[in-house]
Amino acid sequence: MSPPASASDNTARAGEGSAQAFGHLVTPGVDVSHGPILYLEGVTVSFDGFRALNDLSLTLDDGELRCIIGPNGAGKTTMMDVITGKTRPDTGRVFFGQTIDLTRLAESQIAQAGIGRKFQRPTVFETMTVFENMELALKTDKRGWASLRATLDSEQLGRIESILEMTNLRGEVDRIAGTLSHGQKQWLEIGMLLSQEPRVVLLDEPVAGMTDAETDKTAELCLQLEKKHTVVVVEHDMEFVAKIARKVTVLCEGSVLAEGAMDVVRNDPRVIEVYLGR
Ligand SMILES: Nc1ncnc2c1ncn2[C@@H]1O[C@H](COP(=O)(O)OP(=O)(O)OP(=O)(O)O)[C@@H](O)[C@H]1O
Ligand SMILES: [Mg+2]
Repeated sequence: MSPPASASDNTARAGEGSAQAFGHLVTPGVDVSHGPILYLEGVTVSFDGFRALNDLSLTLDDGELRCIIGPNGAGKTTMMDVITGKTRPDTGRVFFGQTIDLTRLAESQIAQAGIGRKFQRPTVFETMTVFENMELALKTDKRGWASLRATLDSEQLGRIESILEMTNLRGEVDRIAGTLSHGQKQWLEIGMLLSQEPRVVLLDEPVAGMTDAETDKTAELCLQLEKKHTVVVVEHDMEFVAKIARKVTVLCEGSVLAEGAMDVVRNDPRVIEVYLGR
């Protein structure tokens, strides 16, 4: 693993949030020529002296599907907060590809650069139909600015259709989103995220509260997203994790305790002690 070069001039300009930065997509292409698409090194985040992340180092390869597990309070959500710019690390480096220093970008710029995140609770527009939710997501740019007057072209309609197919919502296009099951709302929100074509998709506990059938379908969805996107899934549901697991990272007390194939991690005595054996 080779550490990324320091931020390029382009990255520095994007990080300053200049007027120019809001007019165009100025964030340079993600340089994944060395493999990693996300690179965290020595990241520490303290809340009132408590280290939620403690010298965390983590590398994600382009196109991989990574599961992150670990006990409550291990720092999993905080790690996503750092990647998406919601929380700034006290120390450490956070890179998107080789050149984009995420610690220098605003949250909106990180989203625009191609890192999409789904929070735990679904946040769809309850009084709108499934289709209208998708339409709004597609017309809203990654900084959250909607251009409602534009009509969708056939390419955009095709994109909505294929996302609805993938998220098992093809038959629900005209349903009022508020009447969907909890699991369907989660899928709709993932679909809305996908409409923005993110390079990296961060999912925080996507199957919490889902039925077994919905959980299985979500596993299929995650496997479909792999390759086209880099997918990071935080979950406590070990059956679900086992279904989609490639490489698994175990976080504990703010840093990586173990990492590897599900079987290896599952049989690691340290992991059993702090998490799986509880
Ligand atoms: N904004 C905040 N202010 C103070 N403490 C915080 C804040 N955010 C997180 N923490 C603390 O940091 C630690 C890590 O929290 P985090 O939410 O990242 O854990 P987690 O691994 O996502 O846990 P869970 O599995 O329960 O979701 C916890 O002890 C939490 O209380
Ligand atoms: Mg969490």
